Amino acid sequence: MPSPSLKRKFKQLAENEELINKINSLPQGEFHQRFFGSNTLLSYKEYDISLKPILDMNKIDLNACLELIEKTSLADYKASERGWKPKHKLDEMHEDNMQYLLVRQRPDSMDASGSRPKTLNGDSKPADDKEANSRPPEDQGLAGFVSFMFTIEDDYPVVYIYEIHLDESHRGCGLGRHLMDAVEHCACEGKVDKVMLTCFRRNTTALEFYTKVGFREDEFSPPPKRLRGGKLKYPSYTIMSKSL
Ligand SMILES: CC(C)(COP(=O)(O)OP(=O)(O)OC[C@H]1O[C@@H](n2cnc3c(N)ncnc32)[C@H](O)[C@@H]1OP(=O)(O)O)[C@@H](O)C(=O)NCCC(=O)NCCS
Repeated sequence: MPSPSLKRKFKQLAENEELINKINSLPQGEFHQRFFGSNTLLSYKEYDISLKPILDMNKIDLNACLELIEKTSLADYKASERGWKPKHKLDEMHEDNMQYLLVRQRPDSMDASGSRPKTLNGDSKPADDKEANSRPPEDQGLAGFVSFMFTIEDDYPVVYIYEIHLDESHRGCGLGRHLMDAVEHCACEGKVDKVMLTCFRRNTTALEFYTKVGFREDEFSPPPKRLRGGKLKYPSYTIMSKSL
């Protein structure tokens, strides 16, 4: 017979599973309505943000996301024990229940090159690029994206952030913080325990950014190994989280 405390634990685990399964089985329209229906999180300064589940992601957008990851993080992957394996990364990006927030700059805020913000503080000059204005939204280059998933991690119900990458010309204007806020809003609304992510230790820029937006090393982050000579060997990555 399981002890009362074990019984309580099994009950909690079953409730956690049910919570996550319920959210992940929502039709996308209902998912959108529940997490973004009554807020303005899908817009930020001169950027539009679209929510897409992996099933609705087209090849062009997925490849643009993969290219962005390669552009921002290739050196970090190469320096890690994992190495850079685009096929593995694409498989991970295709995982069931993955949600994407894709960021595009509004055409009327672009300069003639059609890609950079006119100003970093969000002020935009009058629209004068007819070509950029007439392009459909999906043809506008991707300024960045975040991918995340409702899941169970170490028995806790969480939102796991898989990727967050902004093209260089769109950094430093609060977009990264806004995307983290949007994911955190989903986590709060979904009533999970925390938001988690993995970050390469050598990516000090991202570590500083995550710390700034309230993340700390998670209790399940792998500890360093003590080598024979007594020296500590740290894993190439750390797991960070923000409790809600
Ligand atoms: C990490 C990243 C998403 C941050 O986005 P961002 O839009 O540039 O960041 P924000 O402008 O929203 O900054 C938010 C806060 O973090 C701080 N911050 C951002 N970059 C920082 C840096 N390099 N060093 C120190 N602080 C930094 C900002 O000062 C700001 O603090 P404040 O709000 O108190 O002023 C972006 O730099 C990026 O895409 N980097 C490359 C991809 C990458 O490394 N992704 C992480 C993979 S694990």
